[in-house]
Parts: sequence; C-alpha cells; structure tokens
Amino acid sequence: MAMPIDATQTPAWAKLAKLRDELRVDFRTWFETDPERAERHSYQAGELFVDLSKSYITDEIKEALLELARDVQLSERRDAMFAGEKINVTEGRSVLHTALRQPEGNSVYVDGADVVPGVHEVLARIFDFADRVRSGQWRGITGKPITTIVNIGIGGSDLGPVMAYEALKPYVQDGLECRFISNIDPTDLGEKLRGVDPETVLFIVASKTFTTLETLTNARQARAWLLEELQAAGIDAEGAVAKHFVAVSTNLEKVAEFGIDPLNAFGFWDWVGGRYSVDSAVGTSLAIAIGPQGFADFLGGFNTMDEHFKNAVDEENVPLLMGLLNIFYCNFMGAATHAVLPYAQYLHRFPAYLQQLTMESNGKRVRWDGSDVTTTTGEVFWGEPGTNGQHAFYQLIHQGTQLIPADFIAFSNPIYALKDGEFDQHELFLGNFFGQTKALAFGKTEEEVRAEGTREEIVSARVFPGNKPTTSIMAPALTPAVLGQLIALYEHITFVQGIVWGIDSFDQWGVELGKQMANQLTAAVAGDEAEIAKQDPSTRALINFYRDTRF
Ligand code: F6P
Repeated sequence: MAMPIDATQTPAWAKLAKLRDELRVDFRTWFETDPERAERHSYQAGELFVDLSKSYITDEIKEALLELARDVQLSERRDAMFAGEKINVTEGRSVLHTALRQPEGNSVYVDGADVVPGVHEVLARIFDFADRVRSGQWRGITGKPITTIVNIGIGGSDLGPVMAYEALKPYVQDGLECRFISNIDPTDLGEKLRGVDPETVLFIVASKTFTTLETLTNARQARAWLLEELQAAGIDAEGAVAKHFVAVSTNLEKVAEFGIDPLNAFGFWDWVGGRYSVDSAVGTSLAIAIGPQGFADFLGGFNTMDEHFKNAVDEENVPLLMGLLNIFYCNFMGAATHAVLPYAQYLHRFPAYLQQLTMESNGKRVRWDGSDVTTTTGEVFWGEPGTNGQHAFYQLIHQGTQLIPADFIAFSNPIYALKDGEFDQHELFLGNFFGQTKALAFGKTEEEVRAEGTREEIVSARVFPGNKPTTSIMAPALTPAVLGQLIALYEHITFVQGIVWGIDSFDQWGVELGKQMANQLTAAVAGDEAEIAKQDPSTRALINFYRDTRF
C-alpha cells in the first residue's frame, strides 16, 4: 500500500481553506441570483436523486474538493480496493465487499484466485436454504415448518440484517417473522424469546469470527432454551440443534466446535468487514424473509452504486461528492456531527446501522502507516426518522450554535396510501421533509418575524438564521434494490473520507481494549476478593455497589 498522502499539505487544501475564509453562505441570494443552482447541483446515481444545492457546495468549492481527491490519489485507491489489493493494511487484508455483489461471470482476484465463483456458490446454498424454509420443506424437530427466525449476532452481524429487515418489511413473506438478539444483557434474549414456539423457531448464529462473547453466550443460552422448552413439552430433543440452528461465519471450525453441522453453515471471507457484511451470508435471515429474488435485487442495488462510484465522472460522482463535502464540513467548517434523517419509518434503524459503518470505519487517530493523523477525523453520525426528530432535536439544528449537516432521505411512493380527509397522508409527510430543508436553508429574518406581529422582546428568539446545509436524497420507492444503492452510497462516502484522512477505514482496533477488560473483570464482578482488590478505586467502588445492592 502506498504511503498516505497528507491531504493538509496539498495545494487543494490551502485553496479550500481560502475558500472557507471567503465563504459567506447565503442560500437566499445564491438561489435568487442563480436560477440554475438546484439543477446544476442535483445528481442521479442509480435510482437515487441527490440534491446538493442546499449544501455549501459552490462551483469553486466543488472544483477544489475534486482537486483534493486527485491530490490524495483517490481514484487510484478506489481502483485498488475494487481490484482486491490489501488496503486493510493493519490486518493485511483485501477489502472486497464489492465482490459480494458482482454478477456471476465477473472476476475479482485475491492472491491470484478469482473470488466471485465462491461468492455465487455460497449464495446458491443460501438461496436453496431460504427456499426450503420459505416453502415449509425445512422442518423443525416435530415436523412443523419454521415461522420465526432468530438472528443471534452483534455489530455488523446484527445491525445490517435488522436494519434491512425493518426497511423491507413489506417484502417479508406472510407467516414469517425475524427477531434479532444482540446484546449480552440477558434482557435481550429473555424478551426476544417471549412467545417463540420452540417447534417452529430457527436460530441463525451470525458471527464473522465465531469468538464474540455476546453472540456465543446468547447462542449457548438459546440452545439451552430450545432443549429445555422441547423437553418441557414432552418432545424428544435429540437432533433438535441440527433442525433449529444454522450458522454464518468465516470460521467454520469454531462453528463445528459449537455443535452446528458445517453442512448447516454459510461461510464468507476475511476480506469482508463485519460492518460491510449485510450483503454476505450475514444477510441469510433477510434472504429467508424477503426471498432469493428480493435478496438478489438487493445485491443488484449495491452493484449499481459500485458501478456508479467506479465509472461516473468525478463531477457527477455522488459518493465522491458527498464524501468530499463531509470533509469540507468536518475539516473546514468545524462540524463535529452529521445527522441522517430518513423520512421513511421503515428506515428507523438506518442511522444506527450507519453509526457502525461510519464511526467504526473512520474513528481513527493514526494513518495507515502508523503515523498520527494530520487533521480531525470521524464525525459522529446520528439521527432518527422524521417527523419524530422534528419534535425532539431539530430545535438545535435550526437554532443551536453548532453546524450540523443533515441528510434527508425520502421515497415518492408509500406502502400505505392513506387519506386524511382530502389530504394524502404521505404528502403531508413529504411536506414536512421539504418544509424542513427549506426552513433550514432559508430561515426566517427579523423583519419577517416582526411582520407577523411578534412582540419585540421575543423577536430574536423566533428568528431562524437559515443557511444550514442539507442533502436531499429521494428515490421512487424503498425497494430491495434502492436499499442496496443507499447502503453502498454510504459505504463509498465512508471510503472517500477515509482516503482523504489517510486512515485504514477497515480495521477496528479501538474495540479491543474494552473487550479484554470485560473478560478480565469477570472474576471480580463475581466476587473474587483478590481480583476486586486489584482494581482501581473507581472500578472497585462500582463492583462493590453492585455486590451490595443486588437482590
Ligand atoms: O467488536 C467489534 C466487532 O468486531 C465488529 O467489527 C463486528 O461487526 C462485531 O464485533 C461482531 O463480530 P463477529 O461478527 O465476529 O461476531
């Protein structure tokens, strides 16, 4: 891997700093004096219509950002990723989630071997399995078909599947339901198994490494629960694990050790990062729920965005432009956070999904050669669906002192076409999306507030400064293909930012220390006095509080 180029030392960086100093954002004037602004700064990527005109983009800033991309050799790094080069340097791995959505017949090489045939081999097994579960051919120990799929996984082995399942609910086969257990908090398992019928449940234990404490603990609990429940109902549980447990992992040896037949395991590869894995076997629960065709469409959507990212000219390359704009907000305008606001209830887990994708990827303090980063990295991503967010935190976006760029996402066609009197409810909903982005951009001046007859003492409190940047993303409908496009869009935005910062966006060493400490603390929490005595005073006090107050 080539040495990272220090973006802050490039001529483009200096240009951007100058443009930032001269920047006087004034959306009212910008739109009045430039009637083409909306059209010039709107783009199409697959089925996504992306309007950047209410962002801080200007022709000069766009040009300087694209120059920055060239200065840091972004297209070379992108091509290296797609070609299977080991750009995850700290783990010595290729980064090939894009290979998971390559059509059959294409080739991508890792260490001289084409990985695409293997991808389709596993997909074919998953699809066959999904068909058997969906048709009722795959049966539980007492011969009943499966009705409930419980995915046990955490991080990338949970967030992608649960987000996509929730997003694609209208595509889920009637009579099938998925549940997701992730937290080691016993409450999660306890609550999610309430009402589950042991005769018709299928557990999918999803773990890339098959060593994750949360997942293995929950999987053991689920296995014990299954056997106990069956026995309590007077059913011979012999052989039940084979009928009610399958696994998804890169570590098939560990799967076998756990007691799941490798024939009932779906593999993937170390070149798929956990947070990039919903399109691998990790998506098996989704493939069962929405069916092979739906899942193939989902993968097709990812591929559409991959092709766009690879082939669209820089000036119209949406992930490139959005990633670079994030750099501008983060490194030049001091934005520390970025809101993602889906106007689609089905996308209610999308911000949570994006948090792992973006923050586990780009929350780094050293570059891929081990040297310190030279500028701020990794903004905080957060969000909630609109309109709920409007009644909670939008106040701060509109009138607070921090700059919070926000992505608004919506779809033209709702699943529920409801009328409220003469009004179409989806149109009321979209009116909120359009109204919010308008209010954020154009605000309300003192004069306008006064003209409404507002008492002078509260005029300033009722002023909306406006000039808050937003990106609007729309698509005709939230289909599996569109969801794939949306996810891949954010994957590539994350990639772009990581390259500018010179970091390895594909490792996650920052999660290790806490895991290690949790393991080391087990004995102390369980009351081992010698272990308790070894702790720092704060930790000791917390453990003692726990031990003194538990019932
Ligand atoms: O602890 C972080 C992490 O390694 C994530 O990167 C990953 O998605 C998650 O844990 C789960 O890991 P696994 O799929 O190996 O159980």
